[in-house]
Amino acid sequence: MKKQTTKPTDASQSRRNFVKTAAGAGAGLLIVPSAIAFGSTANSSLGLGIIGCGGRGNYDGGEFLNNTDVRVTALMDVFEDRLQSTRANLSKQSEAKGRPAIPEANLFKGHKSYEKLVQSKDVDLVLVTSPPYFHPEHLEAAVSAGKHVYLEKPVATDVTGCLKVKSIGKKYDGKVSMHVGFQKRYDEGYRGMIERIHKGEIGDIVLGQTFYFTNDLGRQNKPGMSDLEARIRNWVFDRALSGDIITEQNIHIIDIVNWAMRTNPIKATGTCGRGLRKEVGGVPADYLCSDHFILTYTYPGDVHISFNSNQFKNRGYRQQGERFFGSKGAAESFQGGPATINYNQLEEGQKVADKVDCGKVDLHVAVGTKMKALVASIQSGKFDNQCEDGANTTLTTILGRTAAYKGTEVSWEKMIKSGENWNLKLNLDALGGSGAVSMK
Ligand SMILES: NC(=O)c1ccc[n+]([C@@H]2O[C@H](COP(=O)([O-])OP(=O)(O)OC[C@H]3O[C@@H](n4cnc5c(N)ncnc54)[C@H](O)[C@@H]3O)[C@@H](O)[C@H]2O)c1
Repeated sequence: MKKQTTKPTDASQSRRNFVKTAAGAGAGLLIVPSAIAFGSTANSSLGLGIIGCGGRGNYDGGEFLNNTDVRVTALMDVFEDRLQSTRANLSKQSEAKGRPAIPEANLFKGHKSYEKLVQSKDVDLVLVTSPPYFHPEHLEAAVSAGKHVYLEKPVATDVTGCLKVKSIGKKYDGKVSMHVGFQKRYDEGYRGMIERIHKGEIGDIVLGQTFYFTNDLGRQNKPGMSDLEARIRNWVFDRALSGDIITEQNIHIIDIVNWAMRTNPIKATGTCGRGLRKEVGGVPADYLCSDHFILTYTYPGDVHISFNSNQFKNRGYRQQGERFFGSKGAAESFQGGPATINYNQLEEGQKVADKVDCGKVDLHVAVGTKMKALVASIQSGKFDNQCEDGANTTLTTILGRTAAYKGTEVSWEKMIKSGENWNLKLNLDALGGSGAVSMK
């Protein structure tokens, strides 16, 4: 460990600034990084605790290490294999960057052990990468313990969960930073396109066409697993645990639409089906996710936006994008780029380029940009709060889902009043584990 000198280093300088700004902005809560609060002189970086150590927990954890100076300090999961593999992976990445490995005492196993993680003195910022069904519970635990949060999308899987996230957002506004995992909002290309739309460069949006076609997902159940374990491991195929493919995966496209439109739709119609997906280990037949959706959203001003998706064995065919058609031109963006504006309805004699590139689309870079923005918001004391927008986008997917399930038009108002609440009454105690686990 490096010896602290009396000369103000960048780290000690930022530590002082942090304490000052956090105290000024904290409105009753003083959020200080774990390294400061507990006397470490190693650095002033934030300690990151991860709830849900699967694919995204590992990816996001690694990107926090690559893009910010956070230390990964604690992990929580319901399965020990996930804890062990994530500890090995993120400790290796941490040490390669000269940061400490994850201490054994900070590994928490069992579905209630998130309470211990959020209380840990080593945790300042919580990454929630558990299945979406648990997101409101995990968000609430973290912020009520005074911790900042990066909550992966979607914010919940039902209406009640979304409304809860909205109220948590209001209650903790200005007290901690709360980010929701829509990385496209930090992408140069998408931002460039949306800024131009908002400046009126394509005029009034009249209609839109959007889509998310992708491959089927891998099954995680293994022979000999209990039905409960298989169901939890295969949560992406379970409507209540994931929200169905529209809420869990397609949501990134719906978020672009709400962003472009600067509001939510007022109603939706649609259909969905399971043409190819017939059975998934552990997932009850009634809860099996759809493998395609076809929806039409109506936004204020009678603007119609279509959305189509599938999750098939596409043999390599993947395409995700948005097209907005306005009174002066059109905008078009794709997941792998480009994002462009096409001025196809110019006034006579008007001289501008036919097609403008709005910037580079690179979602890997966008994730890093978002993480830097979150850490900067914490360090400046100007805390970000993305709960309201994150919940509205999640509700927009639920609106389309409800219309598709019912086969009738559903209004926003009716959906909100539905009180939809998916309580599975799962006996997660049966998965075992409580408190810190020894990895020896
Ligand atoms: N922003 C993006 O582009 C993006 C991409 C992928 C996934 N995600 C989101 O990240 C989240 C996780 O997805 P994933 O692909 O990593 O799934 P995953 O199945 O790989 O990981 C989920 C982890 O949570 C654990 N878990 C299950 N129940 C839990 C509980 N009650 N408490 C704590 N942990 C529990 C699982 O054991 C597993 O390790 C989801 O919300 C998903 O939508 C976001």
